[in-house]
Amino acid sequence: MKKFKVYVTRMIPQEGIDLLKQVAEVTVNPEDRPLSHTELLENVRDHDGVVGLLTDKIGGDFFDTAANLKGYANYAVGFDNIDVAEATRRRIPVSNTPGVLTDATAECAWALIFSVARRVVESDKVMRSGTWSGWGPLQFIGGDIKGKTLGIVGAGRIGTEMALMSRGFGMKVLYTSSSGRKNTVLESKIGARLVSFTELLETADFVSIHTPLTPQTKHLFDASAFSQMKETAYIVNTARGPVINENDLVAALKNGTIAGAGLDVYEHEPHMTPGLTELENVVILPHVGSATKSSRTDMATLAARNLIAMLNGDQPETCLNPDIFNEQN
Ligand code: GLV
Ligand code: GLV
Repeated sequence: MKKFKVYVTRMIPQEGIDLLKQVAEVTVNPEDRPLSHTELLENVRDHDGVVGLLTDKIGGDFFDTAANLKGYANYAVGFDNIDVAEATRRRIPVSNTPGVLTDATAECAWALIFSVARRVVESDKVMRSGTWSGWGPLQFIGGDIKGKTLGIVGAGRIGTEMALMSRGFGMKVLYTSSSGRKNTVLESKIGARLVSFTELLETADFVSIHTPLTPQTKHLFDASAFSQMKETAYIVNTARGPVINENDLVAALKNGTIAGAGLDVYEHEPHMTPGLTELENVVILPHVGSATKSSRTDMATLAARNLIAMLNGDQPETCLNPDIFNEQN
């Protein structure tokens, strides 16, 4: 018998499971789907540690049920699914997986920029339909990228990396900061400029969202925000869906308020807001920002190392409530 019991709410790359098995009896949700909240609660009872997903809601009822819990490791960098204040009140450490998915998510934002600006998906559909009649001077005219202005909303790890990747395209870079602090990396390396949200909306040709979802960023992009953007501008979102009011986005795309959108995340995942999938000027991906081999493997091993540390009463590498540990010392 191993000392600890660990529950993993959905299969993750084996490398993470193997690490956990060195110290714990590990049970993995056998089905390739998210658990309902009731199933989640039923399954975590009597476990000492849980690795969960961004689709799992972790709050008071979860902590009540998992009464032996020594730690919860989120298999994601975003942690809007966790009530961190509640975990901290109960002195239960929780962790996320920053850093290891930065490049993959930044690259995904670029995939969306290229796809939506150059109408890649729309054109691909025509080719598959067998209706292409041959080259035409007015077919599938898209937007330019080189030399254009990129606006980064939330220049944290991913936003910074995404902006740095624009160097090959000689773009001007603007960014916003919720703390008001300058991003010295972006300013010194590519001459990026900290601007107000309004200036970013009015000036950027491409707006890329990298802010976490918080009460302050929910519906940050609504009809009023879209109306301040250029008609030729594109928006891409690889952060969290509810940062955009999707009804307002659908209207803005339909009315030509903005030129297009590239989305990896949605307001009501996995459901699509009515009208969204009928639009040609939108590219829609199934929340795959971190979905590369190395990124997902590194997320699994980081989440496992974090959970093992928490099981042992130690501070995990990437802790969301490190004060618990500082106060004890
Ligand atoms: C994915 O959305 C993540 O937050 O890691
Ligand atoms: C996430 O890791 C971010 O800080 O952008």
